[in-house]
Amino acid sequence: MCGITCYVGHREAYPIIINGLQRLEYRGYDSAGIALYDGDNLKLSKTKGKVSDLLERVEKEITTEGNLGIGHTRWATHGVPNDVNAHPHVSQSGDLVIIHNGIIENYDTIKKELIKRGYSFKSDTDTEVLVNLIEEVKKQNGVMLGKAVQIALNQVIGAYAIAVFDKTKPNEIVVARLGSPIAIGLGKDKSEYFVASDASPFIEYTKDAVYLEDEEMAIIRLGKDVKIRKIQDDSLVTPDIQELQMNLEQIEKGGYEHFMLKEIHEQPRAIVDTYRGRLLLKQAIIKMAGVEDNMKKFLNADRIIIVACGTSWHAGLVAEYIFEDFARVPVEVEYASEFRYRNPIITEKDIVIAISQSGETADTLAAIKLAKSKGAFVFGVCNVVGSSIARETDAGAYTHAGPEIGVASTKAFTTQITVLTLIALRLSRAKGTMSSSDYRMHLQELELIPKKVEELLKIDEHVKYISSIYKDAANFLYLGRGFNFPVALEGALKLKEISYIHAEGYPAAEMKHGPIALIDENMPIVVIATKRGHYEKVVSNIQEIKSRKGQIIAVVTEGDTQVKEIADHVIEIPETEEALTPLLTTIPLQLLSYHIAVMRGCNVDQPRNLAKSVTVE
Ligand code: G6P
Repeated sequence: MCGITCYVGHREAYPIIINGLQRLEYRGYDSAGIALYDGDNLKLSKTKGKVSDLLERVEKEITTEGNLGIGHTRWATHGVPNDVNAHPHVSQSGDLVIIHNGIIENYDTIKKELIKRGYSFKSDTDTEVLVNLIEEVKKQNGVMLGKAVQIALNQVIGAYAIAVFDKTKPNEIVVARLGSPIAIGLGKDKSEYFVASDASPFIEYTKDAVYLEDEEMAIIRLGKDVKIRKIQDDSLVTPDIQELQMNLEQIEKGGYEHFMLKEIHEQPRAIVDTYRGRLLLKQAIIKMAGVEDNMKKFLNADRIIIVACGTSWHAGLVAEYIFEDFARVPVEVEYASEFRYRNPIITEKDIVIAISQSGETADTLAAIKLAKSKGAFVFGVCNVVGSSIARETDAGAYTHAGPEIGVASTKAFTTQITVLTLIALRLSRAKGTMSSSDYRMHLQELELIPKKVEELLKIDEHVKYISSIYKDAANFLYLGRGFNFPVALEGALKLKEISYIHAEGYPAAEMKHGPIALIDENMPIVVIATKRGHYEKVVSNIQEIKSRKGQIIAVVTEGDTQVKEIADHVIEIPETEEALTPLLTTIPLQLLSYHIAVMRGCNVDQPRNLAKSVTVE
């Protein structure tokens, strides 16, 4: 969380940084700030609120010339989001300027020590403590900025991605990472450098990037190669220059009002990209290098443990149903945050699958490290190529959904399910747990899903109409069974996240054990009642709701007649194999939450208090 972006070179830094911050706003948007240096003056402007608020503030406060600059968009950890706590922070002498993504856990002890040495603090942040610690180390040891950063970081406990410059050395930026990402964009002939939390801020300027690993720092100096060192032992690291695959079009809205809507509509393409080259229908095979190379491990595994957070955790729950059904392997799905702290039993015969869109979620990363330390084989399902989780895992499969920018996850979810379904089908083949005809049928149906999603997206107007009826509801209930129980959870999460309506997802049959008490004529209940998924049972649940006057929005299979008679509204999805229905039933629930949020005037792409990538625990 928090987005950082920096520039040093021959161009004006300001537009590059502002543009970059706008692209990184998905990482946090409590406050924003920028520092520019024009060779004479350090210009600082920061404000509570979004980058758009910063633009207004900049106009009133500062001039924008300068070839060196750093910018920050914040998701508050220490100190309320206000102007003073916004980054950048400047050291006491006024020379050092820093931006920081993460938490310095021992900041209080360091702060007390610095106060004793005469430092005073304007903000409540741990970041201002860090920049003054660097200053103090620099002074005490008579060293350059890079060395001072290194010594200081060896004294802090916590997580960080930082960028800092010394205005007396305006051709240099020092960056470091532990737990939060840093990408360095390399300009032509060392004439300019970019730094950002991901590569999106500099994609139009360079395709060459270096990603720092944890515990690494880099000294970025114009006219010189980037110098990377290990923070702890000072050893030099050879930069691994990667060619970026991302393009500008992927990170723009492309005519849609919101990224979320664009990403919902991208799902047919994203799912094809996920199975392209992996699902080979003609030969009836599934080819996934990460699985193939480790087939023995998969076949000998006693169980699969899935760790994830948020929407990715819901994809894990869908996968639990699919793996157990297809490949007859026991699966446990764990919240990464719980798993990492509860002394779980993990053996060398376990396979841990970590699911993460961003590949940066701190809890998931920590869960992986724990599993690895116990000897488990760890497989990653990530979207962001080269992300920390993708690098930390023993093997993996990317979802290839393309950049997801809307904070509420949509295409990441369906593509995660697609990858996991492919793996489960591949294992079922290897284990002989599914008949050949069923296997082929599932391959065929999976291949058809993108077309069906495309067809399904045409219901947008109908869902919009339903949204207009229930947009003012105070609560929503989502019910589903079997493969679609996790979809109910995900539907409820989407609504909560972006419209701030309280919503709960439940297994339909569990409704009787509590939530039924909430039902009255004011309660909209979304029920997933597809034909093959325990249909009759769900119909009975719908009857139970109706007799208590609840309002039913039912997601049914095309041609359904029975539910139509009792439900207040129905949304039809094309028919497919039961295990694949989550890939379809999810779509109307995404649209429902989207339209309700828009109608309630909520900021769909940047819901309050949330961030897309949670790099703190
Ligand atoms: C945050 C996001 C969610 C996401 C979760 C896990 O809470 O707002 O949309 O599902 O993190 O993120 P990951 O990148 O690990 O999938």
